Amino acid sequence: MWKFHRSGSGCYFSLSILLSFIVIFFLSAQATHHVHHGHILSHPHYKHQHSTKSSGIASHSHHKPTPKDGAGGKGGGSSHKSPRSPLPNNGLLFDFYSSTCPQAESVVMTVVQGFVSNDITLAPALLRLHFHDCMTRGCDGSILLSTDGSKTPPEKAAAVSFGLRGFDVIEAIKAELEKECPRTVSCADIVALAARDAATMIGGPFWPEPLGRRDGFVSRSKDTVSVPNPDDDLGTLVAKFAAAELDVLDLVALSGVHTVGRAHCVSFADRLSHKPDPTLNRTVTSFLRRKCDIPRNSRVLVNNDFVTPFAFDNQYYLNILSGQVLFSSDEELLSNKATRALVETFAGNVFAFTNQFSTSIIKMGNANVLIGSKGNIRKTCSSVL
Ligand code: HEM
Repeated sequence: MWKFHRSGSGCYFSLSILLSFIVIFFLSAQATHHVHHGHILSHPHYKHQHSTKSSGIASHSHHKPTPKDGAGGKGGGSSHKSPRSPLPNNGLLFDFYSSTCPQAESVVMTVVQGFVSNDITLAPALLRLHFHDCMTRGCDGSILLSTDGSKTPPEKAAAVSFGLRGFDVIEAIKAELEKECPRTVSCADIVALAARDAATMIGGPFWPEPLGRRDGFVSRSKDTVSVPNPDDDLGTLVAKFAAAELDVLDLVALSGVHTVGRAHCVSFADRLSHKPDPTLNRTVTSFLRRKCDIPRNSRVLVNNDFVTPFAFDNQYYLNILSGQVLFSSDEELLSNKATRALVETFAGNVFAFTNQFSTSIIKMGNANVLIGSKGNIRKTCSSVL
């Protein structure tokens, strides 16, 4: 087991910026060198990283679409850890529905806009849904299933899924698409597109979304051990992201989503108990103790970002630096020189954050996807049929 070394606090900001650009360069180039003291890139999972990058809208001629494929498709069962595809975006295509359902993206956007304009809190909820879908068995819509027909509880019933919302938005999009192009657009693709459109509605970047995912048949709460917990240390976070084909740069950039959305007190209550977490700002600790009335109201909701709670900006990174983030997993990003340097870069440059975020979320959406004849295209997203 490898460990991260905590960095000292005397790092000069300018030096950190320089350091972080070097780190971004090396990580982007998928170098296999060690980074500073962290030995992040020596992690066994890391060596399997790929170099999928958002390189704009592309059109590929491989991977023929299989529209209107019914429930009888193969795959999507227990063998979800298929070997990594050598294809760009793991075989997903930016123009996947161009001939089979050209209106797919506009239908998704219209429905998302309808819901989010009525309730802005659904925008972060949809982003979190995409993350949880991709972190368990790959982005295959398994988070949406109410049951997979087995006796095991589904992913959405797991403790780590607590607070997930937006299922009704996905189901409404699916119903609309079933009218327009029956059995063509997968629930997994709908989740990815809805997350993208939701981000855009709260000031986030727009990214081209590779499509063609198929839906899985399996959803088991025990598989959610791969989803990060708010009290995970940096090593655990890195390992969990690596299992989803994501690297340290992706971890830091994607965590920036905690610049929006809310959390239940139960998700960070441990940090407020008898011996409060010293990395949490004292004023914030007192505020949260009052708000959560620990331990009684641990279902109370608190904004992730106290400063600009509804804006998709880089405030999250400033909040980390001032000890004002809710989860110790957020604070952990300061515990290593390389991740701290990235936090400082993103705190100082919103475009560095949003650009990297777009790249990383495309990569996240490619994780362990089912394509071709694997999985199926569901009729409703909560059921395998
Ligand atoms: C790095 C590891 C991460 C951990 C440990 C983590 C954990 C959590 C927890 C515990 C909550 C609060 C749940 C609740 O109490 O209701 C939350 C909220 C949220 N997370 Fe994360 N998360 C992580 C990364 C991500 C990533 C990568 C994304 C998206 C790309 C994401 C998106 C969100 C959003 C948008 C919310 C707010 C949801 C809402 O307002 O409904 N998280 N996260």
